[in-house]
Amino acid sequence: MDRIHITGGVPLNGTIPISGAKNAALPLMIASLLTGDTLELANVPRLADIAALTRILGNHGVDHMVVGKRPGQTTETGQTIRLTASNVIDTTAPYELVSTMRASFWVVAPLLARFGEAKVSLPGGCAIGTRPVDLLIMALEKLGAQIEIDAGYVVARTKNGLRGAEIDFPKVTVGGTHVALMAASLAYGTTVISNAAREPEVVDLADCLIKMGARIQGAGTPRIVIEGVARMNGARHEVLPDRIETGTYAMAVAMTGGDVVLENTRADLLHSALDILSTTGAEITQVPGGIRVRRNGAGIAAVDVTTDPFPGFPTDLQAQFMALMTLANGQSQIRETIFENRFMHVQELARLGAKIRLEGDLAIVEGVERLKGAPVMATDLRASVSLVIAGLAAEGETQINRVYHLDRGFEALEAKLARCGARIERVRA
Ligand code: EPZ
Repeated sequence: MDRIHITGGVPLNGTIPISGAKNAALPLMIASLLTGDTLELANVPRLADIAALTRILGNHGVDHMVVGKRPGQTTETGQTIRLTASNVIDTTAPYELVSTMRASFWVVAPLLARFGEAKVSLPGGCAIGTRPVDLLIMALEKLGAQIEIDAGYVVARTKNGLRGAEIDFPKVTVGGTHVALMAASLAYGTTVISNAAREPEVVDLADCLIKMGARIQGAGTPRIVIEGVARMNGARHEVLPDRIETGTYAMAVAMTGGDVVLENTRADLLHSALDILSTTGAEITQVPGGIRVRRNGAGIAAVDVTTDPFPGFPTDLQAQFMALMTLANGQSQIRETIFENRFMHVQELARLGAKIRLEGDLAIVEGVERLKGAPVMATDLRASVSLVIAGLAAEGETQINRVYHLDRGFEALEAKLARCGARIERVRA
């Protein structure tokens, strides 16, 4: 298995191009199932999760084409893909494919809405918590689907099509909101989603669905109203920048020191995280087309953080922020409210010399003067990248194992960091 070697202690200086958002690209690709016309998506990141979803869509019969690879195009730049679901041959998403990536469960919504049936494997357990799909099923049932669980599969059917309904989520769910948006777009009549997720990726999906002919109002607010349409059409859409990748590199610079411009991204996608980073002592400024992050000389101030749905501090940046706080002056308290088991990075950060105590959903981090490199590994994407950040700031060599987690969500990670001076390389097995 590949490993990443880092020799830490080097400040980051330069520019990093930010990729399209993985968590927007995935539901956008799934939305291609809503129409027989072609959906063209630009700025799609080259990631293992995108490749996995391409295979899953291919299994349903969706044609996939990568548009115009230009000579000299590097793997740091996103790709443009065309997806055409004109010949869907199978409305079943099998366990072998769905178990590799939870988001693939969301295919249930467009398949059901367009073809009246879908059989999709339950996604199963996941390293960051139990992550059930009860709210996604509730939303589809409200829209009139008959749902059975049979031998590990969700079997969803509708006799005369889906019907608009009131869907009130008891808890904010990104996936639930994606599923409700896609299904309601092709339902008969009006759907009102209350307590909808307000994440930028939800807005991006809604924007694309509108281009495809859907009638949606209120995306980005807790109340979304959808007037169903009889059919949807093809469209072209550019995936929005990855706010988690943006925040990750911003935290890396805040930790190692230096001066980096994050290109092709937007501060409004992660205000809460950038505000917190400023409080820790990093200097954040908006520049044309991006964000500049600097920390020169000054120490890192300890700041408390609680994760929350958007516009709150994202759970997907919690591990990275914890890495930063391990070198802060004093104590910080980090509370995780979205997932019940998202602290696997704690014991690995401890291997680098971090002092962290866990009390239920609270991590209490006592800043130390320095971290020291060590072999580490992590069991999910964001935890893994928190170890990369910590390794960049630690003295000596850090070796990160199980690199495939990073490949799921960070496009050209080593290349992007190396161009800013980081001593980082991949050692192929
Ligand atoms: C999305 O997951 C993201 N994944 C996650 O990013 C992200 O951490 C999460 O939203 C929260 O922001 C993608 O977009 C592909 P949820 P999702 O439904 O939609 C509970 C990453 O690293 N819940 O908003 O699956 C759930 O257990 C990943 O890129 C139910 O109880 O998350 C959690 O506690 C990790 N029942 C909370 O809601 C349900 O039916 C929020 O989950 C659904 C969810």
